[in-house]
Amino acid sequence: MSPTHERWTPHFHLAPRQGWLNDPNGLCQFHGTYHVFYQSAPAWPAPGKKGWGHFASRDLVRWEDLGEPLVPSIPEDADGVYSGSALVVTGGAQDGGDLLRLYYTGNVKYEGDHIHNGRDSNQVMVTSDDGVSLSEKKVLLRPKDYPSDLTRHVRDPKVWEQDGRYYMVLGARRSDDVGDVLLYESSDAVEWAYRGRIESTHSFGYMWECPNVIQVDGHDYLVVCPQGLPSEPTRWQNLYQAGYFPLPQGILATTQVDETSFVELDWGFDFYAPQVFEDEKGRCILIGWMGMPDADYTSAPDGLAWCHCLTVPREVTVGEDGLLRQWPVTEIDGLRGFAQPVSPSAGAILPHHYADIELLGIEGNLEMGFDGQLQLSFSAEDGLLRMAFTDEKAASGRTERVLPLAALHELRVLVDGSTVEVYVNHGEEVLSTRWFPTADTLLVTLHATCESARSWEMGGEP
Ligand code: FRU
Repeated sequence: MSPTHERWTPHFHLAPRQGWLNDPNGLCQFHGTYHVFYQSAPAWPAPGKKGWGHFASRDLVRWEDLGEPLVPSIPEDADGVYSGSALVVTGGAQDGGDLLRLYYTGNVKYEGDHIHNGRDSNQVMVTSDDGVSLSEKKVLLRPKDYPSDLTRHVRDPKVWEQDGRYYMVLGARRSDDVGDVLLYESSDAVEWAYRGRIESTHSFGYMWECPNVIQVDGHDYLVVCPQGLPSEPTRWQNLYQAGYFPLPQGILATTQVDETSFVELDWGFDFYAPQVFEDEKGRCILIGWMGMPDADYTSAPDGLAWCHCLTVPREVTVGEDGLLRQWPVTEIDGLRGFAQPVSPSAGAILPHHYADIELLGIEGNLEMGFDGQLQLSFSAEDGLLRMAFTDEKAASGRTERVLPLAALHELRVLVDGSTVEVYVNHGEEVLSTRWFPTADTLLVTLHATCESARSWEMGGEP
């Protein structure tokens, strides 16, 4: 690995050592161990079919790479083990032990157009009693089990338990090019009956990928990734979006959502397909893919052996306004090493690109630059926070993202090799972006009025 390539390897974001990563899958904590599966294509840049890669950890910061345990092996997943979720069933095993169930979409491709006849999607399950060794695959739902007005795009099962019953949502594309979510119900998490669908009042994109359900503090939210929303100056700025609908009636009583209530989860260039799970401490934890499907910009510089990474695990809470907040899990704080002051009127030179930078008590406008390549700026006059690439090479086709923001009080910026996550106002908003710096040191320029500004070197032993 060249020194530059080594510099881009994240220290606390999950990335494959070799090959391609997209969506996080099967997130859970089982018998104390955190499991993060992900969409993987280890032969990348050579073509290959998607399977599930696997990382495991006891503390959300030290991860073990457990290879690629789920790959296509049956006719129903011949062309890819696509995204899905995990369900921990306490006492669910035949011997009364606990059971981990993993649900995914088996993708099958045929000759022809992938929307109307050239593809099949099957929902498949495997189980595990130790989180590592997996059972035989069991096909749960086939095309005949979906409503007849859909295209061949039906995928990404998210399964959860509620009041002793099990539920599954699937993302779907209707034949009239409207995205929606299908809801299935089960008494045993194996036999599923179609229960209905959740749709938006007016069409909101042609496909909803990667549905998820967030249930926190008695509030329900439906997460979806709509595709096909035309970009607007301060909304839907990425090719595809990731966000949520608040569900005041609860997920099971909802059949329609108002598309004007959709809230974007992240405002950076690189964020998609987030998943959540509840850990054994009762925290709702979200991890997203720091990437964008079909993006027209370069996601890995030439010669890099791996492509894409995941966000840090973020704890999700509900704000007073009923909207979600995201904040790096406290375990990330344990990686903070040497602290260095950052001058509000000048900035700082940091010896590396692994930093946790915190600005508190910000007032008025702010300008913050990173190596003269990436810039954050807030204007109190127009109430916009901008994240912009100011260097054409670093931009590799990206320009700027604009976030409407009433006021800026706090910023926390995690820089990790080739990732930047910006948490605004203690997690009210987040911007996640890949950035491949070329300098050895990190030059942070800052012009702001704030009570305190400091940076910790990251990546030490937790
Ligand atoms: C989202 C997605 C999912 C699909 C997976 C395939 O990025 O398109 O809908 O299951 O990726 O890798």
